Amino acid sequence: MDSNIKGKIKSYYGGIAKEVGSTTKASCGCGASCCGDVSKESAIYTKEYLEGLTDDVVNASLGCANPVVLAGLKAGEIVLDLGSGGGIDAFISSKYVGDKGKVYGLDMTDEMLELANKNKAKMGIDNVEFLKGYIEAIPLEDESIDVIISNCVINLCEDKEDALREAYRVLKKGGRLAIADIVQLKDVPDEITESAEMWVGCIAGALKPDEYRQVLEKVGFTGIEITPEIIYTKEIIKSIAEQKDSVDAYGRLDAELLDGAFAGAHVKAYKE
Ligand SMILES: C[S@@+](CC[C@H](N)C(=O)[O-])C[C@H]1O[C@@H](n2cnc3c(N)ncnc32)[C@H](O)[C@@H]1O
Repeated sequence: MDSNIKGKIKSYYGGIAKEVGSTTKASCGCGASCCGDVSKESAIYTKEYLEGLTDDVVNASLGCANPVVLAGLKAGEIVLDLGSGGGIDAFISSKYVGDKGKVYGLDMTDEMLELANKNKAKMGIDNVEFLKGYIEAIPLEDESIDVIISNCVINLCEDKEDALREAYRVLKKGGRLAIADIVQLKDVPDEITESAEMWVGCIAGALKPDEYRQVLEKVGFTGIEITPEIIYTKEIIKSIAEQKDSVDAYGRLDAELLDGAFAGAHVKAYKE
């Protein structure tokens, strides 16, 4: 894959953050279900999760499933959201962990961090802190986190093993990983898996469930469960193509070839 893929990801998601910040309308980065109007309730988040969030936060959502529903957060827990974007999952998590808990959101894109901090200030939330950095080199101490969440981001990492090893390192013993991510369910043509644009659009870098499991096991995780939640049918792919304005590669794809090839999945695993 293109060695400048991180630069392309930053530029693409930076552009989305600016667009959301100026017009409060997001162009969806990854998943299909996220392309619905999340402010009314979406295929990803039910009303319960969106309660209390501003439109700016909801409109910046770029995820592919709801990681918080999987995380089972408790009051007082310390949570890390990998690739926190505009902050939606960090802000939802903050309601569950409460004043005695804390949520870190980690992102590498300046514009996303700016948007997230703007959203945080607007909502007056104190127990969320956004950090600048790479998932492959998390700027936190070993064994300092109870729960790692993430939404539609690990697929963007070029080296999944580095990313998930870092996640394992910062988790406390007994901690859990509860993430949403795109997985690949069937083979697709090389033109898709080798496309930098499709990598940035969260498709080309997606692992098959078996590959995901192997990487998680290799870095030490146990109790692994990978469950496709939202299958990307050709209708959903078509709707992504219609909504994407930056990654126009979607528009050139044969939706039949992609029908059911990708899904927004829940990935759960533990550090013993
Ligand atoms: C598809 S968006 C998802 C944002 C957010 N999780 C959500 O659900 O709205 C991906 C985000 O991950 C960030 N990102 C991608 N790769 C990263 C990496 N290697 N390290 C840190 N952040 C990364 C991008 O800057 C972007 O904000």
